[in-house]
Amino acid sequence: MTHAHITAWVIAFILFFVVLSLQKKHSPKAKMVAMVLRLFYLFIIATGGFLLHTLATIPPLYIVKTVVGIWVIGAMEMVMARTKKGKSTQIAWVQLLVAFLLALYLGLKLPLGFHVFS
Ligand code: HEM
Repeated sequence: MTHAHITAWVIAFILFFVVLSLQKKHSPKAKMVAMVLRLFYLFIIATGGFLLHTLATIPPLYIVKTVVGIWVIGAMEMVMARTKKGKSTQIAWVQLLVAFLLALYLGLKLPLGFHVFS
C-alpha cells in the first residue's frame, strides 16, 4: 500500500503540472485533466486511509500527517484556481512547497514503509 500511496501522489503531481501548462495555453482540455487529477486525490486519500487502517491505534503524528497530506491537495487546488483566474499564485506555491516537504518528511519518518529520517 506504501507503493500505491507514493504512485498516487507522484501521478497527481504530474497531472497537476499538465493542468497548469494547459491552463496557461487556455486549452479547454485543462478541465478534463483536472477532473482526472481529482480522481487521483481520492486515490491518495484512500491509500493513506488504508495505511492508517493497518495501525491498531493512531499516534498523534499520523493525524498531523493526514492533515498535512490534505493541505498539499488544498494547495494544489489553490494554485490551479488562482492560475485560471490570472491572480497571483505566490502564496499558494509557498504553501504547496511547505506542505509537500512536511508530508514527505513525516511520511518518511513515520514507521510504516521506507525509513529515510528515522
Ligand atoms: C499529496 C499529498 C501526500 C503526500 C506527498 C504524501 C507523502 C507520503 C510519503 C512520502 C509517505 C512515506 C511512504 C513510506 O512509508 O515510505 C507517506 C506515507 C503515509 N501517508 Fe501520505 N502523503 C500525502 C497524502 C496523504 C493523505 C491525504 C493521507 C491520509 C489520508 C496520508 C496518509 C499516510 C500514511 C498513514 C502514511 C504511512 C506513514 C508511515 O510511513 O508510517 N498521506 N505519505
